[in-house]
Amino acid sequence: MPSESTQACSLENTLCSWAAKILCTPDPEEKATLTHQVQEYGILERSQKSDRANPPAQPSRKAELTVLHPGRIKRGKGGTLASRIALLHSLANIELWAMDLSWDIIVRFATFQLPNGDRLPREFFTDFVKVAGDEAKHYMLLQKRLVELGCFFGALPVHNGLWQSAADTAHDLLARLAIVHMVHEARGLDIQPQTRNRFATQGDEASIKLIEIIYTDEITHVAAGLKWFTYICSKENRDPVSTFHELVPMYFKGYLKPPFNAAGRQSAGMTEEWYLPLVKPAHKEA
Ligand SMILES: [Fe+2]
Ligand SMILES: [Fe+2]
Repeated sequence: MPSESTQACSLENTLCSWAAKILCTPDPEEKATLTHQVQEYGILERSQKSDRANPPAQPSRKAELTVLHPGRIKRGKGGTLASRIALLHSLANIELWAMDLSWDIIVRFATFQLPNGDRLPREFFTDFVKVAGDEAKHYMLLQKRLVELGCFFGALPVHNGLWQSAADTAHDLLARLAIVHMVHEARGLDIQPQTRNRFATQGDEASIKLIEIIYTDEITHVAAGLKWFTYICSKENRDPVSTFHELVPMYFKGYLKPPFNAAGRQSAGMTEEWYLPLVKPAHKEA
């Protein structure tokens, strides 16, 4: 049975109106359900060229969710059941923001123009609808696992650090792709082996399975960021690697931190020339 907001959404069949609607939906499970509906109904195919909607300044969250500054959240290390739950909860939070970030790039940059006056190709939107669908799937898998362990999403405080990057890059598509998809999402690949080990030392096979599913999908998200970053640079006659090296220090605080998951990054098409020059010099020599 579709919820009231689902019915309201079905009145408007443009991709951007759905994107804005999903961003404004506070309940994470409803957000995920609507995301999957956009994929299943082929909304993109029905959208018009003039598709346009205003994204909210920030996505909605349930009133009872405690959102704190990133520095005030302790991430679980996985050594006890409580810390495994804290780790799963923090991963669910990241997936929830990631779902919103996918919808935000779609709606915020829907009318982005290339230097020749063309709009972004339809494939750009197809790619980010797929990313949104993956993030919705990841959120639901983690939420289900939290419930199996006697918890639920929202039981612990969360941070909104990822949205800060979205706000900082709201005016610049290349910066958005660079920071969100090629810095933060690539960082997710770097920490995967460590996260997997934390569950492995506790013999938590069910959580390991989720971490592996998520990892495989995340490689494709970094690849999507890289693909569209390179595409826009080529249309703007800019060298992609040096443009990335200019944008990251402008919008990302500090240096990129090793150790890198070079194999994972390579699978996404991200070779060392992209990220090694952004490491603090002392680390490079070490
Ligand atoms: Fe994800
Ligand atoms: Fe992702």
